[in-house]
Amino acid sequence: EICELIRSRRPLSLWPQEYFRVEDNIRRKDDLLNTVLEPGAALAAAMALGPEAWLGEVQKSSLRGRGGAGFTTGVKWEACRNAPGEERVIVCNADEGEPGTFKDRVLLTSYPDHVFEGMTLAAYATGARQGFLYLRGEYRYLLEPLEAALQRRREAGLLGQGIRGQAGFDFDIEIHLGAGAYVCGEETALIESLEGKRGTPRIRPPFPVIKGYLGRPTVVNNVETLAKTVLIALEGAERFAAVGTAQSTGTKLLSISGDCAFPGIYEYPFGVSIEQILEDCGATDVQAVQVGGASGTCLASYEFHRGIAYEDVPTAGSFMIFDTSRDLFEVARNFVHFFAHESCGFCTPCRVGTSLLQNFMDKLATGHGAKYDLADIEWINRLLKAASHCGLGLAAANPVVETLIKFRPAYERRLQSLDFAPAFDLDQSLA
Ligand code: NAI
Repeated sequence: EICELIRSRRPLSLWPQEYFRVEDNIRRKDDLLNTVLEPGAALAAAMALGPEAWLGEVQKSSLRGRGGAGFTTGVKWEACRNAPGEERVIVCNADEGEPGTFKDRVLLTSYPDHVFEGMTLAAYATGARQGFLYLRGEYRYLLEPLEAALQRRREAGLLGQGIRGQAGFDFDIEIHLGAGAYVCGEETALIESLEGKRGTPRIRPPFPVIKGYLGRPTVVNNVETLAKTVLIALEGAERFAAVGTAQSTGTKLLSISGDCAFPGIYEYPFGVSIEQILEDCGATDVQAVQVGGASGTCLASYEFHRGIAYEDVPTAGSFMIFDTSRDLFEVARNFVHFFAHESCGFCTPCRVGTSLLQNFMDKLATGHGAKYDLADIEWINRLLKAASHCGLGLAAANPVVETLIKFRPAYERRLQSLDFAPAFDLDQSLA
């Protein structure tokens, strides 16, 4: 019934809020996250090793960040541990804002102990005493259950002073609620927001592991990354690394939505092909799959043999399916509106560039566009990539550029027959 309800939504909505009830339909292809966690069991396993050996285990697992970028978690933790400073901080980035991504919501709903235990494991490895879970404003309804889970852990001696009876192992977690800004998922904007300031991204380096919350060495990890460290503690690095590919170890949670019979959360070993996923979720007549959200990649059918992996098609978890009835120009236009709305306005290239892109796409949509506008769109993309302050601006034109290359007829059929030459050569002027 839920699937039917979701399928019957037309036009297709791209925002995860529309899929609140999909977690009833969780289907797992691999059983790792099916691990039942007795609270404290993973901590006990790590504490039996000691902090250095536990950190070594995380490094051996080659776990990479599940928020999208895939930075090696062990390297991040080690850099924080070795950074100068007295106080260290662990931040769980639960500002899951990428359109089409809703796997962290499911983890926070159904596996809060995995997440909080993962944060405590990170604290054990790095020596941090303070932790924050930065919860996206739209997940406000999860605040009370998460607070209750934290309280249970405090009462069980798994948070607070002398965790599991070990003197000197002090760590506690506070939940900080975001206010609905997409840019606050960018780790330095998130830190600014945690400090009570406007969420404007900082210049990196220094990376947060050196200078983060209040200038302290800070690990910022995605919800899923932290949950996965629990499995490493319980099962060992070798078992973890035996799944997936050599460069992308373990499994990945995917939030599957769009034109398919069974949307929901799936867990796959890295390397799984797009074809396989489409078959499993009952997708037919597929025109394109948007992997990695609005800032990700739009894959055409000739690319469906490719695999989900950092070395091939990376994703924070978003997997949106569009069948042949969809107009991919309108999909790209929707994404462009999203970026223009979410640009924080701090830097001119992004503030103006995303609005210009939106205007061009709207102009094309109303039938007033010309070939000349397509050239302008490509220039704006270069400008955004060359001059934006953070990842939002860098990626803002991706959906347009990708669809322009792979689905050009969707644009061309909207063009008037004007055929202007570009007014100036932006390549030349950027050079
Ligand atoms: P990035 O590659 O710059 O950094 C990734 C992580 O590695 C960060 O925590 C950074 O501090 C760390 N890092 C990188 N170089 C380091 C160094 N030399 N030393 C220590 N730490 C280092 O990527 P970024 O800009 O943080 O994130 C971009 C990704 O986020 C994209 O892949 C995008 O798809 C994804 N994204 C995910 C969203 C979601 O809802 N999960 C929303 C929007 C974007």
